[in-house]
Amino acid sequence: MELHVFDTIQEASQLAKDVFVKAINENPGCLLGLATGSTPEVLYGLLIEAYKNGEVSFKDVRTVNLDEYVGLGPEHNQSYRYFMNSNLFDHIDIDKNNTNVPDGIGGPEQNAKKYDALLESLGQPDIQLLGIGGNGHIAFNEPGSSFDSTTSIIDLTEETIKANSRFFENIDDVPKKAVSMGIKSILKAKKILLLAFGESKAQAVKDMFELPVTENMPATALKNHPDVMVIVDKAAASLL
Ligand code: GLP
Repeated sequence: MELHVFDTIQEASQLAKDVFVKAINENPGCLLGLATGSTPEVLYGLLIEAYKNGEVSFKDVRTVNLDEYVGLGPEHNQSYRYFMNSNLFDHIDIDKNNTNVPDGIGGPEQNAKKYDALLESLGQPDIQLLGIGGNGHIAFNEPGSSFDSTTSIIDLTEETIKANSRFFENIDDVPKKAVSMGIKSILKAKKILLLAFGESKAQAVKDMFELPVTENMPATALKNHPDVMVIVDKAAASLL
């Protein structure tokens, strides 16, 4: 894993933006694995700016997202489909038919199977973007998730529900389950970019680097991948 530390989230996101823009310009029909949460918001803003400046076009780009809350449809303002549309897709020239987020509505198991079949048919993502949870989760793969997992239904931990409640009016509104790409599927990408910002991620970043590979700390699975860039700000690197 290659560590890049920056003073600010802006500078860190700039590097991530450069990696994405280069990959798209080298292969305009590339497949990008995207993520949600507050971490990639600045990066998505920079990608929108790059599109508006004529630096890049998403016309032929295809995307797959990591996860979705079970029970939230695309119109729910906390669904990850809604997040992707409002933070990125609505502002660039991507064809929304080429963008994929797991379905939150409908039979969860069926949705997971359907998403796996889709991932299989799309092939290997060129880049997979990741954030990290305070407990080391990647996508919604909570501690204890098998490294062999494909798309599945995850019971969210109390910690994750609490962390994500900041986006909801009431903690009881936070869904208790999510459909999430599995760790095995995440590791299939050619290149992985993990972003982590702020003091609340410092322990997880330290554990990811310093613990041996263990299912108790999902992000340690990334040590099994040959091309991982970890891009953090000073606060997230403060325990290293
Ligand atoms: C969420 C998402 C993850 C994200 C993580 C951190 O629960 N499922 O994909 O990386 O938690 O979120 P944030 O970026 O808001 O800190």
